[in-house]
Amino acid sequence: MASNKPIFFFLLLLFLSLKLQSSSSQTWVKAGHWISSSSLPVSDINSALFTHLFASSAFINKTSYQLFINSSGEQSFSNVTSIVKLKNPSITTILSIWVARSESTTFSLIVNETSRRKSFIESSVKTARLYGFHGLNLYGFQPTNGTSLGTFLDEWRAEVASESRNTGKTRLLLTISTGRFPIVNSVNYPIESAKRNLDWVNILAYDYYEPRLDRFTGFHAALFDPLGRANTDDRIKEWLKRGFPADKLVLGLPYHGYAWALVNGSDSGINTAAFGPYLTGDGSVGYSLIKFLIRKFGYDVGAVYNSTYVVHYWKLGRSSWINFDDVEAIKAKVSYAKVKGLLGYNAFQIANDDNWVLSHAAYAIGTTQPKKHQLLVIVLVTVSAMVLLITALVYYLQHKIFKSQGLLGALKMSVSLIRTKISGERKHENGDPNLQAFTFATIKAATNNFSNENKLGEGGYGPVYKGELLNGQEIAVKRLSRSSNQGLEEFKNEVNLTTKLQYVNLVRVLGICTENEEKMLVYEFMLNKSLDFYLYDPFKRHLLDWRKRVSIIEGVTQGLLYLQEYSNYTIIHRDIKASNILLDSEMNPKISDFGMAKFFKKDELEANTNRIVGTYGYVPPEYVKKGIYSTKYDVYSFGVLLLQIISGKRNSNLYGCHENLKLLEYVSIEAMVSM
Ligand SMILES: *[C@@H]1O[C@H](CO)[C@@H](O)[C@H](O)[C@H]1NC(C)=O
Ligand SMILES: *[C@@H]1O[C@H](CO)[C@@H](O)[C@H](O)[C@H]1NC(C)=O
Ligand SMILES: *[C@@H]1O[C@H](CO)[C@@H](O)[C@H](O)[C@H]1NC(C)=O
Ligand SMILES: *[C@@H]1O[C@H](CO)[C@@H](O)[C@H](O)[C@H]1NC(C)=O
Ligand SMILES: *[C@@H]1O[C@H](CO)[C@@H](O)[C@H](O)[C@H]1NC(C)=O
Ligand SMILES: *[C@@H]1O[C@H](CO)[C@@H](O)[C@H](O)[C@H]1NC(C)=O
Ligand SMILES: *[C@@H]1O[C@H](CO)[C@@H](O)[C@H](O)[C@H]1NC(C)=O
Repeated sequence: MASNKPIFFFLLLLFLSLKLQSSSSQTWVKAGHWISSSSLPVSDINSALFTHLFASSAFINKTSYQLFINSSGEQSFSNVTSIVKLKNPSITTILSIWVARSESTTFSLIVNETSRRKSFIESSVKTARLYGFHGLNLYGFQPTNGTSLGTFLDEWRAEVASESRNTGKTRLLLTISTGRFPIVNSVNYPIESAKRNLDWVNILAYDYYEPRLDRFTGFHAALFDPLGRANTDDRIKEWLKRGFPADKLVLGLPYHGYAWALVNGSDSGINTAAFGPYLTGDGSVGYSLIKFLIRKFGYDVGAVYNSTYVVHYWKLGRSSWINFDDVEAIKAKVSYAKVKGLLGYNAFQIANDDNWVLSHAAYAIGTTQPKKHQLLVIVLVTVSAMVLLITALVYYLQHKIFKSQGLLGALKMSVSLIRTKISGERKHENGDPNLQAFTFATIKAATNNFSNENKLGEGGYGPVYKGELLNGQEIAVKRLSRSSNQGLEEFKNEVNLTTKLQYVNLVRVLGICTENEEKMLVYEFMLNKSLDFYLYDPFKRHLLDWRKRVSIIEGVTQGLLYLQEYSNYTIIHRDIKASNILLDSEMNPKISDFGMAKFFKKDELEANTNRIVGTYGYVPPEYVKKGIYSTKYDVYSFGVLLLQIISGKRNSNLYGCHENLKLLEYVSIEAMVSM
């Protein structure tokens, strides 16, 4: 058939262009570092995104100076190569030997003594082969005076070369992962020997500033720094200046950041006073966890990218500061490596990636920008392939589908399709993320004219109805009774607050309706009503097993944490109680009813009020007595709620053998008795 020919040519050209592209990127190293004890199982590694995989860690036996793999590594190393090759048959795996920190002394003992060198070198080659690795890496060694690192590298290389000759196998790759500067404590790396013997050097271009050491905030992996503080560019330049070839340098990419606890919560920049690590023991936080925190607690403010330094930073609440590399920083660094003519990049460590987002970004940069003459060939090939493809397509369309409409019709249709797509995206960009204004007619229709069947209950200042919008979305509508003025303030307060708050454990307000002198709040609908509905009911209480109760407690805690710590404001709810904890279809708790909530300024610790609000039994004594309230208000109410969730007892009843004790008194007496 005639129409088969263009397709055949197209495939041929496509094949050629792909082949060219892959041959041009073959020498570009896209490496990832995997640690066997991390949370990422070998089988979950997306190895298609890497050309090389470093697997950590092998150790050195302090008496025999031989390489060994401890029992936990043994399990995962035995088939790491075969597993990652399933997704990427051409991947190269490299066994990484830990010689940093505590192990550096052992290693320098090896390096400066002939027989130790021999046992280490021979065992390293044997171990790599035994476990199916294609290469070896020394992680974190620093040269010291009196060690013969140069000689060691000569001998290591000689051994892998002779092993390859004797066995006929491809020679093992040899690399080191090392500190940033070619000179450490005024001791040089043996540049000449490294050039001669190593396939490349991985530059650990991160951890410049760490919260466990530095009592001020700093960018731990800045690519540049106009003020000349620690940065990657200066270090790379230093290697090059000392004659180390660019195409033997591989740039380290951090998949982690560092969190500092700030001394002054108003600070946000670098170089500000800090107490030390936050969130983890040393303050290091994986990228995926950072992204999780931003998603959960960053509703108002996300991370900031600073292209001067090529870093991202983010304030978590008011008390801590994290700096890390997000997609833009990673892309910029990979581009930098390309421009500088480096050999590639090495991501540390891949378990910290968030659904492979960073690895995809790095990979995409690494794959584009082939060399110029190849680029021309690819452009030509691609253009001619496109022309052929379009010709074939037009031919096909004309003859098969759009016979009646003709070519013009087909073109018009596709243009309008494209337009719709663009305008659809624009609309989304400009869309108001906050409150929607509903018309009275919409709400009236949704609630079946506020019918009794749709009534969910009667709140403090008016009835609540269930409704269904035309698009099928279920809503809950709180309608202020028109007769009384009461509730107007609460309404304003709730509208004002909820536009600023959005969090998974807070009931979301979708919009308002203020037509016809109505004051209505429209919420997302909570299928499973509220917590009080279950806690005290003799039958329904069994629906809440311990697991559910714990998850409800957790959710409420998260919501309160958001209100007090992680939103941009300090908010005191002042009416935390079982009936204000709503449950969605999966029994996830959401705090509702912000009618009585109060904003606090950041530096404000307490406030005073004449108007006592809240619900009996949940109100802290200092508030009842003096009208003083602070964030402790909600903590007190939460404590009462906690007791109720655990005991399933009402707050209003009396307990004890004389039935004269309130719940809190009863619990504290029981606690004292059992001590
Ligand atoms: C280290 O080597 C010595 C001597 O070969 C051996 O007895 C010991 O079990 C080894 N230790 C480990 C942890 O492999
Ligand atoms: C093996 O090494 C890893 C990494 O240092 C360590 O976490 C683990 O506890 C070690 N396991 C054994 C059995 O020594
Ligand atoms: C990998 O090796 C472990 C034990 O060494 C074994 O349990 C596991 O089944 C192996 N996995 C595959 C995919 O071969
Ligand atoms: C190492 O040796 C060099 C030159 O031999 C000397 O300048 C330097 O001070 C020494 N460094 C240390 C830490 O001893
Ligand atoms: C071997 O290395 C150690 C530790 O760096 C050093 O103290 C010692 O002097 C070195 N010995 C020789 C023979 O170079
Ligand atoms: C915290 O920083 C802000 C703004 O930089 C400053 O106004 C305030 O005085 C500082 N507070 C303390 C306790 O240093
Ligand atoms: C990056 O931060 C520095 C210091 O805060 C600032 O001077 C610079 O303007 C920022 N650069 C960008 C592109 O935001």
